[in-house]
Amino acid sequence: MSDKAVVYLTRKVPEDGLAVLEEHCEVHVWPDPVEPSHERLVERVAELEADGLFCNVADIVDAAVMDASPNLRAIGTMSVGYDHIDLEAAAERGIAVGHTPGVLAETTADLGWALLMAGARRIVEAHQHVENDEWKTWGPTVLLGRDVHEATLGVVGLGRIGTEFARRAAGFDMEVLYSHTSPNEEAEADLAEYGIDAEYCELEELLDRSDFVSLHVPLLEDTYQLIGEAELERMNDDAILVNTARGEIVDTDALVNALETDEIRHAALDVSDPEPIGSDHPLMAHAPEKLTIAPHIGSASMETRSEMAVMTAENVLAGLRGETPPYSAFKDAGIEKN
Ligand code: DGY
Repeated sequence: MSDKAVVYLTRKVPEDGLAVLEEHCEVHVWPDPVEPSHERLVERVAELEADGLFCNVADIVDAAVMDASPNLRAIGTMSVGYDHIDLEAAAERGIAVGHTPGVLAETTADLGWALLMAGARRIVEAHQHVENDEWKTWGPTVLLGRDVHEATLGVVGLGRIGTEFARRAAGFDMEVLYSHTSPNEEAEADLAEYGIDAEYCELEELLDRSDFVSLHVPLLEDTYQLIGEAELERMNDDAILVNTARGEIVDTDALVNALETDEIRHAALDVSDPEPIGSDHPLMAHAPEKLTIAPHIGSASMETRSEMAVMTAENVLAGLRGETPPYSAFKDAGIEKN
């Protein structure tokens, strides 16, 4: 064993991030494409007596993981979201936690728009139509979708990703509504520079008025199943729901029912509850006509994932040195460190 700090990575990550760690630490990487089970994660952290942990949204990092190694003092998650980490437990134990805010906002917003457009213009169905040799002629009523331009866009949560998502509406002459914990004047001013006059309203009003509803809130106790039966009922029958945030923000059973009964036109999802979701789940019976779905790839561009890996490595290194990580999750979550 070297006297370098030991860092355990729960997955292979982009080379740039790995290189930052390898320069200073003894690095161990879980070799499989699917993450270690929680039990295995606890075992590996214990076996290695890890000083640092480099994880991601698929790993549940709770007190059991934290207590597995007496040396653990830094956790870096390669994600902006930290709902998979027990932050209170980390704070109590003096373990630093870093995440990756900001860097993935634009990439995730791009994906949100890809989903919105795919749902509105039936891109997956259109692709299958061609692939299945159903394209026999130009059809006046074939694969009619709904217009995006001049429609009303409802952005639920105008944080970093929500603001980037809203900004992209400028090219489509859309009316933009948003709900948030309170009016976000800074984001409104940013959007105004792009000619967007974002109107703050309560979630209920947003659901009543929007043609497209896109979710950008973090997963918290208050936002768990924020969109349930009542909210889906409120949405107009022709509306499209986009979720690039967290699956648990939507009540999946209520969504299945809303699609079945045509309460909304389409759901375009990058996240789901459960996640991953199997092809035999009742939700999947609605694809592709009423459901477009991607496997949690919001931040999955080569550039962004590489930057996320470097940020995560730098967060871990700072924690190992006993410093506050440059992107501290405690700071973001408003948690006082012990
Ligand atoms: C995040 O960063 O929280 C995403 O969900 C994964 O990229």
